[in-house]
Amino acid sequence: MSDERIIIFDTTLRDGEQSPGASLNTREKLEIARQLTLLKVDIIEAGFPIASPGDFEAVQEIAREVEGPTIAGLARCLKKDIDRAAAAVDPAARKRIHLFLATSEIHRKFKLKKAQKEILKQAVEMVEYAKQFCDDIEFSPEDASRTEGDFLVEIIEATIAAGATTVNIPDTVGYALPGPFGETIARLVSDVPNIDQAVISVHCHNDLGLAVANSLAGVVNGARQVECTINGIGERAGNASLEEIVMALKTRKDYYGLETKIETRRILTTSRMVSNLTGLFVQRNKAIVGQNAFAHEAGIHQDGILKERTTYEIMHPEDVGFSDTNLVLGKHSGRHAFRERLLKLGFEVSEEDLNSLFDAFKVLADKKKEIYDEDLIALIEEDFAHVDETFELVRMHTTSGIDVTPTATIKLQRIGTNEPIEDAAVGDGPVDAIYNTIDRITGVNCRLLDYQIRAITRGKDALGEVSLRVEHEGIEMHGRASSTDILEASARAYLNAIGKIVRQQNKEVGDSQGV
Ligand code: KIV
Ligand code: ZN
Repeated sequence: MSDERIIIFDTTLRDGEQSPGASLNTREKLEIARQLTLLKVDIIEAGFPIASPGDFEAVQEIAREVEGPTIAGLARCLKKDIDRAAAAVDPAARKRIHLFLATSEIHRKFKLKKAQKEILKQAVEMVEYAKQFCDDIEFSPEDASRTEGDFLVEIIEATIAAGATTVNIPDTVGYALPGPFGETIARLVSDVPNIDQAVISVHCHNDLGLAVANSLAGVVNGARQVECTINGIGERAGNASLEEIVMALKTRKDYYGLETKIETRRILTTSRMVSNLTGLFVQRNKAIVGQNAFAHEAGIHQDGILKERTTYEIMHPEDVGFSDTNLVLGKHSGRHAFRERLLKLGFEVSEEDLNSLFDAFKVLADKKKEIYDEDLIALIEEDFAHVDETFELVRMHTTSGIDVTPTATIKLQRIGTNEPIEDAAVGDGPVDAIYNTIDRITGVNCRLLDYQIRAITRGKDALGEVSLRVEHEGIEMHGRASSTDILEASARAYLNAIGKIVRQQNKEVGDSQGV
């Protein structure tokens, strides 16, 4: 194979955000989009603008603010969707409208109740319609992997003739297998007469754990764009994982002979950012970005590594952003070293942010002797999460033990006021008591849907990170916080989620009043 380039189409903010419970607000999406730009993805699918006013706003904001990658907006093959998507991506220097319409017999018969001919006509007309807004049009025959081969060839040829510049082949339900999926792509290359006028893309879901394998089979057979997400997040079992695709192409360039533009050293930071903001933890043994991805436990492996790294290591951990010296800073580290480390981790912060982060770092360094990269990332995400807070935790006292009733006494201050409010409550444990007290003070009674706690780094003095999900009046929200005190982290994660709920409620009132 020749040294060609694979286009990386990142859909973390669209398909990835469709992961159950992973919803992100505009500011969080913008932060991820900026990081994806540093990572050098070619295309950011920023959302599905018709889906909600929030989705529209996020796509438009990213189109306005983010320079470099092409910004894509998703649309069904309907004029109202295309109008919304076109308006949302309009501010981008490089923009794309991504149209989709289901083509498989199952979808035609049960979902759309339309014949092949009608689907074909609708797809062609809508590609032509979208073309007036921008040149860069992608068409996806949804459920392509279960679509009859002849019909797939026909609709791909027709949509290219109508102006589609990328034709994407989705394995929507993760049903495909590498062999047959590769053959589908090979057939398009050989049987679609105008295929040279478009880029073939693949978009694979992971229901059988084959999303990456299927995508790569597509690449071997002629696909030149891969749609993927950070950490493989997405609908159900997720999408093909960006880091696995990119590192497979890089590590096995001898076989694929293909390159991407991705700055692989930024992979880990991006993975952690997405995990923190979505609340979707990365499993320890996850390829490329899991905590154990480069950890050698067996003595025989460790011995081999010490003698010659390549005996058991096929990639350099540094190439994906695991730092060479993980132990980074301590109490006596200065501002300069602190800034340098942040830069190395991929965070460019303003002078003002650097001051507040450095103060927070000093407080942490007083509690914790050794500060690792993971601690610094948590510190930054923590600083970022403050923006969402409506209530500040001023004081907290808890009692718990065996044969005592757990209680919490908490003082909160609504941000922007000078009136602290104090209250107390009991619970069936200290965390329950904390949450009952916060509910009483804020008046926002949340149902706790999920609560997870983990140590960010090793050691008994490690930062504990609490990630939770709550529901209040139909709004589901994720909250997270870290602290060396896990009860404090529990309280602040809950306040973080409440802050986002209050913001969303205020926004909905504003939207309904046309503000
Ligand atoms: O999985 C799918 O079919 C999709 C399309 C919208 C491309 O996400
Ligand atoms: Zn999908």
